[in-house]
Amino acid sequence: MARLQRLLLSAALVVLVCAVDRNNFKTCDQSSFCRRHRAVRPGESPYVVLGSTLSITDEGVFGDLLNEKTRVFFTLELYPLKDATLRIKINEKNPIKQRFEEPYALVGGSQTEQFEVVDRSEEGFTLKFGSSHAVVKAKPLKIDVYSGDTLVVSANARGLLKFEHYRNKLEGEPQAPEGEEEANAVLEDEEDTNGLWEETFKGHTDSKPHGPASVGMDISFVNSKHVYGIPEHADSLSLKETTSTEPYRLYNLDVFEYEVDNPMALYGSVPVMVSHTPKHTSAIFWHNAAETWVDIKKLPDRNVVSSITGFFSGGDSDPPQMSTHWSSESGIIDLFVMLGPRPLDVFRQYGLLTGNTNLPPLFSLGYHQCRWNYNDEEDVRQVNENFDQHDLPMDVLWLDIEHTDGKRYFTWDTHKFSNPLEMTANLTARGRKLVTIIDPHIKRDSNYFFYKENHDRDLFVHTKDGSEFDGWCWPGSSSYLDLTNPEARNHYSDTYMLDRYKGSTLDTFTWNDMNEPSVFNGPEITMQKDNVHPGLGVEHREIHNVYGMLFHQSTYEGQLRRSEGRLRPFILTRAFYAGSQRSAAVWTGDNTADWNHLRISEPMLLAHSVTGITHIGADVGGFFGNPDAYLLTRWYQAAAFQPFMRAHAHLDTKRREPWLFDAETLSIIRNTLRHRYQYLPLWYTLFYENELTGAPPMRPLWVEFPEDETSFDVDYEHLVGSALLVRPVVTEGSNTASVYFPPGVWYDVIDLTKYTGPSSTTVSAPRDKIPVYQRGGSIIPRKDRVRRASSLMREDPYTLVVALDAQDKAQGTLYIDDEHTFDYRQGKFLYMGLSYEKGVLTSHRLDPSGIYETGSWLERVIIIGLDKRPAKVTLNSASQGTQVLESSYENGSSVHAGRLTIRKPGISIKEDFTITIQ
Ligand SMILES: *[C@@H]1O[C@H](CO)[C@@H](O)[C@H](O)[C@H]1NC(C)=O
Ligand SMILES: *[C@@H]1O[C@H](CO)[C@@H](O)[C@H](O)[C@H]1NC(C)=O
Repeated sequence: MARLQRLLLSAALVVLVCAVDRNNFKTCDQSSFCRRHRAVRPGESPYVVLGSTLSITDEGVFGDLLNEKTRVFFTLELYPLKDATLRIKINEKNPIKQRFEEPYALVGGSQTEQFEVVDRSEEGFTLKFGSSHAVVKAKPLKIDVYSGDTLVVSANARGLLKFEHYRNKLEGEPQAPEGEEEANAVLEDEEDTNGLWEETFKGHTDSKPHGPASVGMDISFVNSKHVYGIPEHADSLSLKETTSTEPYRLYNLDVFEYEVDNPMALYGSVPVMVSHTPKHTSAIFWHNAAETWVDIKKLPDRNVVSSITGFFSGGDSDPPQMSTHWSSESGIIDLFVMLGPRPLDVFRQYGLLTGNTNLPPLFSLGYHQCRWNYNDEEDVRQVNENFDQHDLPMDVLWLDIEHTDGKRYFTWDTHKFSNPLEMTANLTARGRKLVTIIDPHIKRDSNYFFYKENHDRDLFVHTKDGSEFDGWCWPGSSSYLDLTNPEARNHYSDTYMLDRYKGSTLDTFTWNDMNEPSVFNGPEITMQKDNVHPGLGVEHREIHNVYGMLFHQSTYEGQLRRSEGRLRPFILTRAFYAGSQRSAAVWTGDNTADWNHLRISEPMLLAHSVTGITHIGADVGGFFGNPDAYLLTRWYQAAAFQPFMRAHAHLDTKRREPWLFDAETLSIIRNTLRHRYQYLPLWYTLFYENELTGAPPMRPLWVEFPEDETSFDVDYEHLVGSALLVRPVVTEGSNTASVYFPPGVWYDVIDLTKYTGPSSTTVSAPRDKIPVYQRGGSIIPRKDRVRRASSLMREDPYTLVVALDAQDKAQGTLYIDDEHTFDYRQGKFLYMGLSYEKGVLTSHRLDPSGIYETGSWLERVIIIGLDKRPAKVTLNSASQGTQVLESSYENGSSVHAGRLTIRKPGISIKEDFTITIQ
């Protein structure tokens, strides 16, 4: 009883009282391994490559590494991979216990590039592969990786490598309580020994049965001033130096009312960092799923210059660089270096390792309406009808935890939701879908089928003592699926079969929340690190950051199974890891209805984008608190041009469906949603290309303008593909926005005001306007007949918007398929290349292997930036021969671009054609 009360109290504290309580979460100083790694002095690395042990196989180069201080041996493995990628692994040579290697993130990375080893000597050797090479220096270990002749990435340049080998606890060794110093022969000199074998934080003791086992190393990006990525943090896109702050932390956590502009860990972790310079883009993937910290330092810095000399043979000045320092609590060092050289090359290279976002079903790119909670079937019915009544498009209605029977997932509250099949049919009758929430904490109730089945088969996480773990979450006392166990994953996936998940249909999709995992009464509101996952036989510590991904991947598998692999799944997840893009969309968790959270959504989503997590959004309006009408409309406007668009709100907030606001607000939201739907063909085409190439649909400016240094630290603008520049208004009371236009010509999509970049301009942005510009040189497909859901627009006609560059040219693509099945992978698609040059617009099949029967036709062509009214416009196609088309022309001016509108070409969109303007 006392225990229960304590649990209840701590749950209540977490939920109600601890708002923005940083003290619930560790600082580096409170994490003993982070402290130990931060204390490593540069320039004194004891790790040397033993040249005599070097061996070369078909796969790569292998050798031994010795820590000269501890006399412990390690293995160094170098794998040259296809597409300018180098994998570097460091592990213990003779560990007393096998070290954990994360097995879930990679789907590729095993294709070896041709290579040779040259210049082998006592000092080291050179590994040549493709047009790249790596110079490995033996004493101390340093690996300089070159793209062509350019040194791009250097590992252990500052000598911060530290690999804690497993050791037996010495007899009589103290538990190393906080505050006590202790000498230990196997430790390095003067090491801080607090917390080596046990660590306590806020009353939670981590028993650390295997002792210290952390790994860390410095990785420098040479000549770089900007590094990006390592989501998830509520911080700027170009990452900040951490010399006087906490390091960036990667540890999936449920952070209540998170703060912006800081490096604290949030819900997901992708240990991928991208460096960009005008000449070169490169990236690294620090493949480790344990708690990880990253320090960032700009060099040279007078204090450390001596430690990095040797970058250039005989050179006396070090090049500027971003030196980053990574440490993880356990596992091995497994580093992928991707050498670009351009941004899109890096995205492709990373995609080859962990996969790309699968083309999502079109409805998931529409607008999502969520709230904690839509109370009952009547509520759902009214919301559904109100969207139609107010002429607001909407694709998906969401049900949060209250729809279940006492937070027992896969069940329904039968009083409030007595007829889920009919409720769902009422949504689908209007072209809409339903999402229900399913979380990984399972209510401990032997009358609950899903608990009982998992309990009886021992498929839950264990405590360190081997009993079923009991943690506190929404349902109260809960057990957590051991997702490292294939049987647990399989059984969970099977629960999506329609005969098992009663009340669900093929139109019911899934929201995976709380999968960090969130444990209200656990350390840092998550799971004890010394809990055990019996499936793999590892501690939770080893797999913490990948737990959430195992959950949503199994959900994906479940949705595949229920349609026998025919229909594309849709899942939204809060926790994520490298590779999550293969099976889920991600949102930025429990944000707040304030301007800072709207502002930070831009750089947050961009950081996800450059690390492969591309189907992403932030809750519109902010989850906590009540947005006023101004904040709400600005949020709708921003999200309309971000990849995933969902409105969501906390249980305690006022209802905020658009029709509950004044007429002006409602009308702005309506126009914003219509804008979203008009551009769905662009988003869909970009997501198809994302699956093919890894290129993110939402892009930082530097991805498209790699040489334009001004764009390298722009936080509050992004590009949709290469064609749309978006500058959401993210400050309170603002009726203007300062827009940075990268090089080229840009046209305001509403009034055709013309801008030439590079330039910065303050533009007018009254309440009803979001500054969005089409790039001169692009062709964008749109569907301008907006309906109540995207599925009802499938056969609607297209408009092509051609925006001319300074050479009067433009290009684009258009992808079409059935929008929801996997048939496109059997060739049922159309991929059209669009180009405009010398007055001729051409559409032709880019990929002739794709064929899809669509009823869609070309309704309109708009040409922006045309100087004068043409005399004649003609269409040419196989089916219609030559035909004169009707058009109208609006004069341009010094400010506005001229516009030609060609009416009803009428040609089927699947046919090749040309339109000639004379
Ligand atoms: C479905 O829609 C009909 C017509 O509006 C309504 O009468 C019925 O109650 C709805 N059913 C559910 C379960 O919402
Ligand atoms: C458009 O410009 C042409 C000359 O370029 C001029 O003759 C014509 O009157 C203009 N039309 C309008 C409506 O301003």
